[in-house]
Amino acid sequence: MDTQLLQPTNENIMRCAAKLNGGGLVAFPTETVYALGAVATDSAAVKRLYDVKKRPSDNPLIVAVSKKSAIDGVAKNIPPKARVLIERFMPGALTLLLDKADCIPDIVTAGSSTVAVRIPNNPIALKLIDLVRKPVVVPSANTSSKPSPTLASHVADDLKGKIDYILDGGESEIGIESTIVDTRTEPPTVYRVGGVTLDKLKAAIGDVVVRRDGKKSIKYAPQADILFSAFYDNMSDNICRKYDELTARGRKTLILCLNCNKKKYGDRAVFTVGKDYSEYAHNLFARLRKADAERYDAVIAEGVEPKGIGESLVNRLIKISGGQII
Ligand code: TXA
Ligand code: MG
Repeated sequence: MDTQLLQPTNENIMRCAAKLNGGGLVAFPTETVYALGAVATDSAAVKRLYDVKKRPSDNPLIVAVSKKSAIDGVAKNIPPKARVLIERFMPGALTLLLDKADCIPDIVTAGSSTVAVRIPNNPIALKLIDLVRKPVVVPSANTSSKPSPTLASHVADDLKGKIDYILDGGESEIGIESTIVDTRTEPPTVYRVGGVTLDKLKAAIGDVVVRRDGKKSIKYAPQADILFSAFYDNMSDNICRKYDELTARGRKTLILCLNCNKKKYGDRAVFTVGKDYSEYAHNLFARLRKADAERYDAVIAEGVEPKGIGESLVNRLIKISGGQII
């Protein structure tokens, strides 16, 4: 299959909508990371999407709609706290777990009666879903086990030749995935801390519990071993020690650090991730892809203070490192 990279003109977005309605697979930008879309009610298209991503069939997909009123079409029994979050954060980097409506096929939810729903906050995504006039599944547009894509070129690296179109919307604004919340429990349960920070969630609905992934975490990057440091004042000393130890064992090692810390690592190999935690989140996945492209064996990421988006970053670092904290 020939995968075409398209600029997000009105005409091209219409082409993509028609392709999705004909059972095709189209990648498009969202404010968190790029999505791989298929019409959620088209089981055959969704099946093909699982195959193309090499995604295990027991891992359900998020469903996106373009407006709040459409949530009632894909979910039912919406709890009051979900209504609060919908008003406060949608469109945005929030995904709600809700009772699924009958129109959502089992393949989308991996057999569960729960559907994950979100409204992406990106004009291209919203326009596309609006034109499709049906709910669209929006998993990240990467091959399973690779970092989520934050550029159209990342999507092409993983999926070129396997999907119909890639709409190029430039860099993803946030760079890490949406926050996933279940308001059907009391207190509500957070399954993934992402674009909407825990502080903001708590300000909107009060206390929440954060559930650590029950499943064994799978590393994102198959080549490099990812480790990350706990956050504390002299963490750079510890990171340097670990770097030197790995290098002495012949492992090509890289450090990911904030711009302001670069000089602490002397002439060790470093990729900077930006000036603050937002930029760290924005750049993390792109840097991991670059580390793989440059064939690093190990990546040591600086730890961050678990505040605001820093908390979402810690959550991601735990996941991508498989919990390898130094
Ligand atoms: O920001 C995002 O959410 C991005 C953009 C592209 O929309 N999408 C994304 O999708 O991160 P994915 O497939 O990479 O991650 C979705 C997560 C998975 O961990 C999946 O297990 C969980 O959401 N999930 C989806 N449906 C679920 C359901 N019905 N019940 C429980 N968890 C669900
Ligand atoms: Mg993903």
